[in-house]
Amino acid sequence: MKLTNKLIAYPMKIGRRVITRGPVDTARWLMSHIEENRQESKLNVATSSKVEVDELGFDSECHGYEPISYTCFNRILEELEIRPDQEVFLDYGCGRGRAVVIAATRRFKRVLGLELSHELSESARENIDRAQKHLQCSDVEIVTANACDYTVPDDVSMIFLWNSFQGSVLESVIERIRESAANAPRKLQIIYVLPHGEDNVMQRTPWLSHQKQVHTSFWSGVDMNIFEVDCDMAAGSN
Ligand SMILES: C[S@@+](CC[C@H](N)C(=O)[O-])C[C@H]1O[C@@H](n2cnc3c(N)ncnc32)[C@H](O)[C@@H]1O
Repeated sequence: MKLTNKLIAYPMKIGRRVITRGPVDTARWLMSHIEENRQESKLNVATSSKVEVDELGFDSECHGYEPISYTCFNRILEELEIRPDQEVFLDYGCGRGRAVVIAATRRFKRVLGLELSHELSESARENIDRAQKHLQCSDVEIVTANACDYTVPDDVSMIFLWNSFQGSVLESVIERIRESAANAPRKLQIIYVLPHGEDNVMQRTPWLSHQKQVHTSFWSGVDMNIFEVDCDMAAGSN
């Protein structure tokens, strides 16, 4: 779109939103929009465009691609105790790789992104290349696989789960995590971002203990839960 058209279209879009959604929602949307654009150009990545689940052709328990906001994810990282060059981070359903790229700007030993879609995996790999000069972690990998079948590597210490799937897919993933914990007992945390109103299956899993809940941002309104895996209990509950 030409700049002059943008200058007309944008205020109209804002005006329409104030009328339909009200000033508070519009202020939230505007703030997050500005921050998203700022971060995308700073890291030289393109992770914003969503992909609906129908376009991906997944079954109904798998979700489409929508990235977590930069503000929320940076807030999440601030809450974690990242021992420099020791933690291995896994993003379940990494899409275009936003969370992977942001995590890799910190001193993780290894950052992994798992993604079912080939097209999104490719996009994630391109974004990692484009952000290269901003990354502190040199071992970053995107694996294209179905989360149900993926064996969690024994060195993974932080698992990020943000709205990628539900139902029996989520249950299989919890079982894969349990197997990994039983196989290689270690400090293992799950960062689960729970969309409002959704049932929290983690709370019902006996070998997971809830550490804390953090409201990530005034602008987005998602709650983050940190769970710690009790590896002895996980080993005893197969
Ligand atoms: C809500 S997005 C999460 C995006 C990313 N974690 C982030 O924070 O930017 C969900 C992602 O999970 C992927 N996904 C859905 N089902 C999956 C499965 N069974 N195995 C692996 N990835 C899956 C989708 O393709 C999509 O990219």
